[in-house]
Amino acid sequence: MKLNGATVLVTGATGGIGHAIARRLKAEGASLILTGRRAEVLEPLAEELDARTVVADLGSPEALAALLDQTGEIDVLIANAALPGTGNLVEMSVERIDANLAVNLRAPIMLARALIPRFLERGAGHLAFIGSVSGIVASPGSSLYNATKFGLRGFTDALRQDLHGTGIGVSNIEPGFVRDAGMFVNSGMVLPRGTRTVSPEQVAAGVVRAVTKNRGEVVVAPAELRLGARLGSLAPSLNAAIQRRAGAADIVGSHAGNND
Ligand SMILES: NC(=O)c1ccc[n+]([C@@H]2O[C@H](COP(=O)([O-])OP(=O)(O)OC[C@H]3O[C@@H](n4cnc5c(N)ncnc54)[C@H](OP(=O)(O)O)[C@@H]3O)[C@@H](O)[C@H]2O)c1
Repeated sequence: MKLNGATVLVTGATGGIGHAIARRLKAEGASLILTGRRAEVLEPLAEELDARTVVADLGSPEALAALLDQTGEIDVLIANAALPGTGNLVEMSVERIDANLAVNLRAPIMLARALIPRFLERGAGHLAFIGSVSGIVASPGSSLYNATKFGLRGFTDALRQDLHGTGIGVSNIEPGFVRDAGMFVNSGMVLPRGTRTVSPEQVAAGVVRAVTKNRGEVVVAPAELRLGARLGSLAPSLNAAIQRRAGAADIVGSHAGNND
């Protein structure tokens, strides 16, 4: 789908990657509607990009249901909002688990459900979901986050099959570790020496590729991580042994919950 002239709703626009996606989409000629909870972060970005804003808590079923009434017609959804979900599951509150499931999984599903009939009427539209390499391969200390991102990947893949031939595109964009801004940087986690990262701008470029070329899956990560994730998904036990050897549990464990 062409982005030039399209109206695009970006969730999580207040976040690190959301900013980069919004700026890149504007450069592509899209007209933007930006959403997030923090109006004080949303407004300056909206002013810079001549965008409309809707402040909404996607964890609230009522606010989520009302969101599309406030946006009016849109051509493209970029479902980017998410909460980090690292930590020991047993130590997490029920509220925190529910919030993760609501924002990371329920909200994208409900937005897609509401948009599909409208897109079908027009025979056009694109649904893009920001997943993660954590939706391809699991890591220690990330069971909740892995659950939401694996879920989002399965949802996207199935929906793409359901909507084949309708004119509606569906994509899952899966970044690896993102530097400079966003939830990974905010966690303060330090990666083993030599681990390569990607920039928020590379993720934004992946979003553009996914929408304009109607790609089902775009992994935005260095080659070694892309390969490792694919192999890890084929051999989960081997992946677990490699992660244990690399001390992944200690790296995640010492920073779990920093994003609460
Ligand atoms: N950073 C990475 O290394 C990385 C790697 C792979 C995938 N990703 C994915 O990339 C996407 C963007 O992440 P990021 O790194 O930019 O994280 P971030 O800076 O923490 O941004 C998260 C965004 O989600 C929004 N959000 C959270 N809870 C919300 C709620 N209840 N209602 C509405 N919005 C809510 C936040 O908005 P408010 O705070 O204003 O509510 C914020 O805009 C996520 O889907 C994430 O899983 C990130």
